[in-house]
Formats: sequence, C-alpha cells, structure tokens
Amino acid sequence: MNQNIIKIFDTTLRDGEQSPGASMNTEEKIQIAAQLERLGVDIIEAGFAAASPGDFDAIDKIAQRVTCSTVCSLARATDADVKAAGEAIAKAKMKRIHTFIATSKIHMEHKLKMTPDEVIKRAVRAVSYAREFVEDVEFSCEDAGRSDMGFMKEITDAVIAAGATTINLPDTVGFRLPFEIGAMVKEMSAYVKGRAIISVHNHNDLGLGVANSLEAVINGARQIECTINGLGERAGNAALEEIVMALKTRSDVFSEYTTNINTKEIYPSSRLIANITGIEPQPNKAIVGKNAFAHESGIHQDGMLKNKSTYEIISPADIGLDLDDTLVLGKHSGRAAFKDKLGKLGFSLSEEELNTSFERFKILADRKKDVYDDDLRALVTSEMTMAPKIYELISLQLMDCSNGVPSAAVSIKKDGKEIIDAGIGEGTIDAIFKTIDRISGYEGQLLEYKVKSVSEGKDALANVTVKVSFNSEPAIIGHGLNIDTMLASARAYIGALNSYLSMAGKLKSRHCDSSKTI
Ligand code: KIV
Ligand code: ZN
Repeated sequence: MNQNIIKIFDTTLRDGEQSPGASMNTEEKIQIAAQLERLGVDIIEAGFAAASPGDFDAIDKIAQRVTCSTVCSLARATDADVKAAGEAIAKAKMKRIHTFIATSKIHMEHKLKMTPDEVIKRAVRAVSYAREFVEDVEFSCEDAGRSDMGFMKEITDAVIAAGATTINLPDTVGFRLPFEIGAMVKEMSAYVKGRAIISVHNHNDLGLGVANSLEAVINGARQIECTINGLGERAGNAALEEIVMALKTRSDVFSEYTTNINTKEIYPSSRLIANITGIEPQPNKAIVGKNAFAHESGIHQDGMLKNKSTYEIISPADIGLDLDDTLVLGKHSGRAAFKDKLGKLGFSLSEEELNTSFERFKILADRKKDVYDDDLRALVTSEMTMAPKIYELISLQLMDCSNGVPSAAVSIKKDGKEIIDAGIGEGTIDAIFKTIDRISGYEGQLLEYKVKSVSEGKDALANVTVKVSFNSEPAIIGHGLNIDTMLASARAYIGALNSYLSMAGKLKSRHCDSSKTI
C-alpha cells in the first residue's frame, strides 16, 4: 500500500532549548544534531539565528555538518531575523526558513499591537524575503489554537501566494483538546488543498500534545513538530518518541501513515539529550522513562515469563534499548571490546576521540568494578561535547567540614602553566567554586546545582550539572563526571567556565528583548 510519509520536524534544539535550564553549548548542539540525523528526522530546527551570535554560530556549524536532514532556523517576521536565518543555514545541503507571527486576536491586540491587515503584510513580506534565501519556507500562525479560522485562511492564502510551502498551526499555549485540533486541521487541510503541507506544533500544557498531534495526522497534517523527551517551553512539546511509537505500534489504526524515523535510535537520542541537558525524563515517562519496561508485580512478571505480549506492547529492542545485553566492561576489557560496545551504543568516534575516551574508560574501570552502558554513554558524551579546555583541572584537595572551616586547594592548568590556590567557603562545594573563581578571575554565580548517579551501586559515577552566570552574563551549563562527587563538581564548574569563555561575545542578546516579540 502507498503510505503517506508524516514528516518529523524536530525542534529540540530550538523550542526544547527554551525549557528552563536546558541551554546547550555549540559542541553539545552539534552532537545532538548528528544524533537527530541518525534518528532520521526530516527537519532539524537547529535554533533561532537572530537570538544571539552563539545561536547563529551553532546553526551555521550544524548546517555544514548535517547532510541527510533539512536544517532550519526560526525567524520572527522581520527582515533582520529572516536575513540572520538565511545566512546561518546558507551552507546546508537542504535548508528551510521558518518564520512566524501571531494570528490570534489576543496576541495581535496585546502583544503585537498590530491590526490584522498589518499582520498579513508583515507575514507576506517575511515569506517573500525568506524565498530570496531558500525555496523551502515554513510559515507559522502563532497561537493558531486560539485564532479565528477566517483570518487564518486569509493569511494562509497570502503567505502561500508569497511562496510558503508549509503552513504550521501551533497550539502555542497547549489549550486545545484532540477533537478541536482535529477539526481545525481538517478544515485547514481541505482549504489549502495540496497548495502547502499542513503541520502542527502542540504544546503540552494540558498533557495533550501527543494526542493532539495524532488527531492532526488523522485529519490531514503531514508534518508533526516535536521534541525528544518532550522538552520545550513550560510543560514542553509533544514528545517525538511517543508520536512515532504510537504510529508504529498502532499501525492497525495508522496503516496509511509512516515516518522516516529509525526507531532503534530513539533510546540513544533520549539518553544523549538527558545527559547533555541534565533533565532526566520522569521515571514513568512513556517509551523512554526508566520504568517504561520494568515489570514490578509478581503477576506481571509471571505473565512476562510465559509470553511477553501479555504485558508488553513494544519490544525494548525496537527503540534501541537492549535489556538482554549483559556484556559489562571492566578493567580487563581491551580497546577492541570498548570500540565494539560503543558501536553497539550508536557512537561513531574518530580515532582521536576513541583514544581519549578509552583512556578515560581505563581510569574509570580502575576505580569502578563494572562499567555499564549508561556509564559509557555518559563518559563518551561528556568527552565529545566538551568545550575547548581553556582551563583544565589538575588536582583537588579538600579539608573537611564536620567541625572546621571547609577549604579547598585547587590546581588548574592554563596555557601550559599550572596555577595553584586555596580558599574557604560556606561548604565544600562553595570553597571549590570560590577558589576556581579566584584562580580564573571570573566571578561565577551558581544558579543551579544537580547531582545524579549514572548507574547503580556505591561506586556509581556522579554526573554533576551546574548552571552558572559568570560576571553577571547569561547563565551557562557545565557538566562533570566522576566517581567522586566533589571532583565531578569541580569539573562541571570548570566546564561551564570554558563554555563561557569559548562563547565570549556570543552570549549578549540571548533570546532577544521582549519588546520585539514579533
Ligand atoms: O509554540 C509556538 O507557537 C512556537 C512557534 C514559534 C512555532 O514555538
Ligand atoms: Zn512552541
């Protein structure tokens, strides 16, 4: 049977990055884009080029690297934004500009302070200008979920005439119920009648993002916008893994539709994003949560032993989760076993990356009896997404804290020279971070500190994530991985400092000033 391809438009790097605490450095974004390409997403929304020089730079680098997916940048409906988007994606093999303006009465009156006619003119201008850079232009009616249908038809006619090839209908505030999204998509699809692809972008404020997206498919949408692990503004976006697995698992209902997604890359994608952002999916999250394939009760376990289909509607292997792979690495494992394991986990490393990762693995295996898949994922991800090592931790000594004054002696290398200093603090972490500040001369304000154990056992690796604002500039995330939580904390802080310095001058206008929200 001829199946309709539902295009998967992933916006983890744009809307997902707007999740509180999810900002990423350029290396991290490049690794995520490479993984999204392996996953088979049709369009990667790599960022919002006009938001900051850092965003522009990341989109430009992703555009040069990705060849199998279309690379897209978001742009408000202004000349400056469209130009920035066009320039940022210029080197991509397949490229798209995604421009938007709000179409609901509430947004036009209160946010834009523009009349509907002015909004149409601005949209037409942005789309025509975008066509000067690319042939593939998406237009979004922001807050479509609360927009007047007659007005959406009017603006849609105008932007299609100006060259838009995809019309996106975002439920920006996650207000609509499935039957309402279905009706909106049905009416708009019938109206557009093949002149453009109809897309949806459903936020999850009522927990309905995925249900609304599936209803949209049934009613004519041929592109779904979504994010890995459902990241995104506020309650997030519809989760890619849930949409794709619902279409696949319920192929009896969705027999006419398919996607280009390689579902075996779902679990590796989810882990990569969780490791990078430090935002772990809730344990009971569908498809990728820690408990998604765990069977706790005796009755369920008994059923599973007799026949897996009693309690399992998806095989973990279908999402790339190998529960049966018992090969655990340890200190006697050689380079070949290490390389083989990484290959199975979906990593393809250059010779140099493999060598450094193997060295780090050996150090880890000396201290940790069993090295699990999750340890390896975290270790390799941290190696591949590290900002340039401007400052490098050499050693850390701590004086304890039970009765005395917590203090830290830190030795750091910069430009080949070792700098040593010691300092005190309110607690051990505070002492470490203050001493690093003294050595570097940059004053960091710690906004968030999270520690998570990567695998199980007393010798588990600690994955520390910090969010720091240096010299009162926009916050930067840093990660540190070690069996010792204090060492991991020092590495995370220095990682954030290195990211900050490597993005110097590219942070300033991050996420634009709110007076220009069109
Ligand atoms: O939620 C929204 O409306 C958006 C648009 C920019 C597509 O993210
Ligand atoms: Zn959105």
